[in-house]
Amino acid sequence: MTIILGLESSCDETAAALVTADGRILAHRLATQEEAHRPYGGVVPEIAARAHVEALSPLIEAALADADLTLADVDVIAATAGPGLIGGVMVGLVTGKALAHAAGKPLVAVNHLEGHALSPRLADRSLAFPYLLLLISGGHCQLLRVEGVGRYRRLATTIDDAVGEAFDKTAKLLGLGFPGGPAVEKAAALGDPKAVPLPRPLVGTNDPHFSFAGLKSAVMRAAQSGLHAKEDIAASFQQAVIDCLLDRTRRALIASEGLTALVVAGGVAANQAVRDALTEMARQFDLPFVAPPLWLCTDNAAMIAWAGAERFAAGLIDDLTTPARPRWPLDPDAEKARGAGVKA
Ligand code: KG4
Ligand code: ZN
Repeated sequence: MTIILGLESSCDETAAALVTADGRILAHRLATQEEAHRPYGGVVPEIAARAHVEALSPLIEAALADADLTLADVDVIAATAGPGLIGGVMVGLVTGKALAHAAGKPLVAVNHLEGHALSPRLADRSLAFPYLLLLISGGHCQLLRVEGVGRYRRLATTIDDAVGEAFDKTAKLLGLGFPGGPAVEKAAALGDPKAVPLPRPLVGTNDPHFSFAGLKSAVMRAAQSGLHAKEDIAASFQQAVIDCLLDRTRRALIASEGLTALVVAGGVAANQAVRDALTEMARQFDLPFVAPPLWLCTDNAAMIAWAGAERFAAGLIDDLTTPARPRWPLDPDAEKARGAGVKA
C-alpha cells in the first residue's frame, strides 16, 4: 500500500502526517504557534517561519515513530507549496524536496486550498464528485464546485476580508483574545443574536461573492458605543455571518446541477452554529451534508498527505524545481472578484 508523508507549514501550524492511498491515517502530528503570536493578536510572518524551521523535523520524526516506519517505507512526499506566508511555505516545501531528493521518492507539491477541498473525501471515502464546497478559513471564503482532482470551479470568493479574519478581528475588538473564532463562538453562546442590528453585506443581491468589511466596521461601532454587552455583539455578529454564508451558499446550490453533497471545510467549519445552519440548508436541498471532523477542518498535514495521495493516484507529480507560491488560486480561470486578490 502506497504511503504518503504530508507536510504543512503555510500559516501558523507546523504539521506532519502519514496517510495511505486508501485513506488510513497512520500518524498525524501538529505543533501550533498560537503562544508565539498571541502577544501580537495575529500571525507574525517572520516569527512563523522561524518556528516552522524548529518544529518541522522533530514532527516528521515523531510521525514516523508513531507509525513505526522509517523514511524508506514512505512512497511519496507531499508538501504544501502555497498559498500562504511565503517564509513558512518555503520551509515545508524545501524540507519536502530535500527528503524526496535524499530518499529518491516522488514529490507532490500541494495547493493548501486543495488540501482543504479534498479533506472531506479522507473523512468520508464514499464522497463522490462533484460536490459544492464552502471553504471558510482564516485566509479564505470561497464556494467551489469540486469536479475532480485538480478540477475546481470557483463560484464565489470574498471581495474583502476572509470570514475567519472577521471572527479574529471581532474577537480583538471585543477583547476576547486570540485565536478569535473559538472565543467569539463561546461568547456568542451567552448572548442574544437579535440584540445588535448589523448589516448582511451582499445578501439578496445577484452578486455571488462574499463581503465582511462592512460587518466588521459595524461591529467596531457597536463595540465603541458602549451600549451593548460583548456577548450580545458576539452573538449578533455570528448570526450575521451565518446569514451571509447561507444566502450565498443557497444561491450557489440553486445555480449548480448534479451535486452529490454540500461540504464544508476550513477552520470556521469548527463553529457548531455554522455547522448546524449548513446541515439544515443541505436538508432543504435534499443533499447529504459532509463536514470533516474538527481537527481535519483546521490546518493539518493529513489533508496535505491525502491531497498528495489523490494527485499521485492521478499521475500528477512535481519536479524539484517547483516554486513556493504565496498566491495560488485553485481555479485560475475564475473571474477576478472586485476588490479580491488582497489575500492569497
Ligand atoms: O483553516 P484554518 O485553520 O487556517 C487557515 O486560515 O488556513 O482556519 C483558521 C481560522 C481562524 O480565523 C479561526 O479564528 C477560525 O478559523 N476558527 C473559527 C473557529 N475555530 C477556528 N471561527 C469560528 N468559530 C470557531 N469555532
Ligand atoms: Zn487552511
